[in-house]
Amino acid sequence: MQNVTYYQSIFNNFLSNYQLDEEPQTLYQPIQYILSLGGKRLRPTLTLMTAEMFGAKAENALNAALCVEVFHNFSLIHDDIMDDAPLRRGKPTVHEKWNLNTGILSGDAMLILSYQLLEYYNGTTFKELNSLFTKTALEVCEGQQYDIDFETRNDVIIDEYIRMITYKTSVLVAAAMKMGAIIAQASSQDQHLIYEFGKNLGIAFQIQDDYLDAFGDPETFGKQVGGDIIENKKTYLYLKTIEHGSQQVKDELFQLFNGSEIDLQEKVERVKQLFETSGAVKETKTAISNYTAKAFEYLEDLSLDDVYKFALKQFGEQLMQRKV
Ligand code: IPE
Ligand code: IPE
Ligand code: MG
Ligand code: MG
Ligand code: MG
Repeated sequence: MQNVTYYQSIFNNFLSNYQLDEEPQTLYQPIQYILSLGGKRLRPTLTLMTAEMFGAKAENALNAALCVEVFHNFSLIHDDIMDDAPLRRGKPTVHEKWNLNTGILSGDAMLILSYQLLEYYNGTTFKELNSLFTKTALEVCEGQQYDIDFETRNDVIIDEYIRMITYKTSVLVAAAMKMGAIIAQASSQDQHLIYEFGKNLGIAFQIQDDYLDAFGDPETFGKQVGGDIIENKKTYLYLKTIEHGSQQVKDELFQLFNGSEIDLQEKVERVKQLFETSGAVKETKTAISNYTAKAFEYLEDLSLDDVYKFALKQFGEQLMQRKV
């Protein structure tokens, strides 16, 4: 196996040869735009790494890796519409740069393109990839709907939140890895274990995304810092503040999240203070490392060489250090 940057670079190379210069340009340009903005390429890297760990050639997993990344980028375009987000990867979001209809239709086209990329595979491999992908894509929609529904609810509990982020974020990370395992024809036990590893890593990843959304560095984060607070998102930080805050803190937070007249920038600052002083920030960091540790437990029974398990652990640990 090679190092992580190797997989990122063969992926980026494959992506740059992916032809999308078709008509109408008004449909395809936004697709090119979002895909060329970069991002961490977390999911495709995991697909390629997993495929090689289980004995396939990374080259054979490139189509699946691109399928997952195109789907991910489709979900970002639509997510930015739903979250009313101005910035993505340090640049204007598709619906801001073009318009709402462009965001909707270019996003739809990307979802279709992601399925088309799976046509490269045959027989059982195709069938297994396709049914995992379909199940996952539907779960992402379910998670995104919960996320939106929670904006206007005041009684969301942590278990519901974990289910919401499992669907909107983690299952795709899990599926990205399992797709690599399917291509390598790994045993069903190994496929299951690598899926659970990815799922728990994905949960940690989304809790950290919540943290960075409030406390990331606006210079480098690439998204609007405070966006979740502005949109009244029921994040881990919010739920833990409600759980542990005094009645006074709870009342204030409810008010801030239920249409108070306060200036948005002031709202963001005040909510961040409440997140800090309630101890929610600390608990959020603990949850990130707990879910990462839980992911690592699934590695134990995997029938993989220790070198690979170590590489996956390193990957997970580096993810916890991320600032974007
Ligand atoms: C953003 O995903 C959406 C979430 C699920 C949190 P990433 O943080 O992987 O975004 P990019 O692809 O690196 O920009
Ligand atoms: C996004 O969650 C999950 C999906 C895109 C499916 P967020 O709304 O937290 O992602 P960001 O923060 O905008 O990247
Ligand atoms: Mg968003
Ligand atoms: Mg969202
Ligand atoms: Mg977010």
